[in-house]
Amino acid sequence: MTRPAQQSEELATLRQLLRTRPPMDRKLPVFDPLDAPADPATLHVSWLLEAMTAELPDAQVVTFATSDGDGHPDARVLVLRDIDPATGRWSVFADLRSPMGEQLAVTPWAALTSYWPDFGRQVRVRGPVEAVDQQDAPPAERGVGPAGHTAAVVGRQSQRLGSAGELESAWLLAAAEVAADPTAPVPGLTRYVLRAETVEFWQGDPGRRHIRLAYERSSGGWERGLLWP
Ligand SMILES: Cc1cc2nc3c(=O)[nH]c(=O)nc-3n(C[C@H](O)[C@H](O)[C@H](O)COP(=O)(O)O)c2cc1C
Repeated sequence: MTRPAQQSEELATLRQLLRTRPPMDRKLPVFDPLDAPADPATLHVSWLLEAMTAELPDAQVVTFATSDGDGHPDARVLVLRDIDPATGRWSVFADLRSPMGEQLAVTPWAALTSYWPDFGRQVRVRGPVEAVDQQDAPPAERGVGPAGHTAAVVGRQSQRLGSAGELESAWLLAAAEVAADPTAPVPGLTRYVLRAETVEFWQGDPGRRHIRLAYERSSGGWERGLLWP
């Protein structure tokens, strides 16, 4: 338990750090928009590959934002599963029964954001989302192992949990079920495919002269242009 005196000391330290420690205060890569490819998916592939090759931790993790029926936003981090330059589509996996799944059923639009702190680079993708059922996909194509399968059988993701013991017994039952039949359907497993309408590449500059390149889908392909920082 944090004591009041300790809490106010911690707050003072945090506020001091927030005031004095600027983000991206390091040498960042150069990005020349004139060298950028004609389509944004190809550029996201290059930036992600650079980040993963440099072994930046969790470089493939994105923030995925949705909104509910009242227009209230929500966001969580997910693993990016695919980028397809041929169609301009980005894929993530989640449970159809989760709050995110429910939100997308009502408002099938999302915003997906990558950020790599070491490179000061951000990518922002927005567009409509299609749900593709993966529950009965063959195990090799599911993209989830036994633990993910067990979690799906346990279900109730993001619902209020009464106690750790409740989870423990539900998990043991589900794990036994999955071990008995690893080919059984994975309840709720869904590939969410975002068809990009707009994509922005943002290269940070410690001096705030950030470089921003925006792509917009058009009838003939992609239009692009720079944005003010
Ligand atoms: C690094 C990391 C990766 C994650 N990857 C996924 C994922 O690929 N799919 C998923 O459903 N949840 C993933 N999660 C959990 C989600 O952030 C979130 O807790 C879950 O999807 C429930 O969100 P919801 O209540 O908004 O539906 C991940 C969490 C972290 C921290």
